[in-house]
Amino acid sequence: MASVLFVCLGNICRSPMAEGAMRAAAEAARLELTVDSAGTAAYHVGEPPDPRAVACAAAHGVDISRLRGRQAILDDFYDFDHIFALDGQNLANLRRIMPDDATATLGLLLDVIPGQEGKPVPDPYYDGEDAFDYTWRLVSAAADAIVVKLQG
Ligand code: 4NP
Repeated sequence: MASVLFVCLGNICRSPMAEGAMRAAAEAARLELTVDSAGTAAYHVGEPPDPRAVACAAAHGVDISRLRGRQAILDDFYDFDHIFALDGQNLANLRRIMPDDATATLGLLLDVIPGQEGKPVPDPYYDGEDAFDYTWRLVSAAADAIVVKLQG
């Protein structure tokens, strides 16, 4: 079974939303997939996702309330097939700690969407609910594109 990991900064907004969107997209496509998320920072380890992220995912029929924050670890580079960073800063930080013999691929999440290559999923943490809706739109489009890639 293929496995994917989404990584943002805090693991309470963008990457848990990406995890939820990915689970939903895989389930809808009947694709068996291991999905997880993590943060490059440890600020929110053990915490549930931000209530605004939980509400936004719930509005799209996806329950992410039981996820808990964790920090990305070296084992992730061997345990997952694909690691997707939500923005360039987190991608750079992951590249810095990626072991030479890592077996995972590492890339920017929006690189999976034609026309969106190189773009970040902006951090909605300091913004309002609209920002979370925008995050959801981006991560669900990426999740759909990942399903197509993995099925293709
Ligand atoms: P995330 O958002 O990286 O999408 O989970 C953030 C959450 C918390 C913080 C920053 C970004 N923080 O500084 O606590």
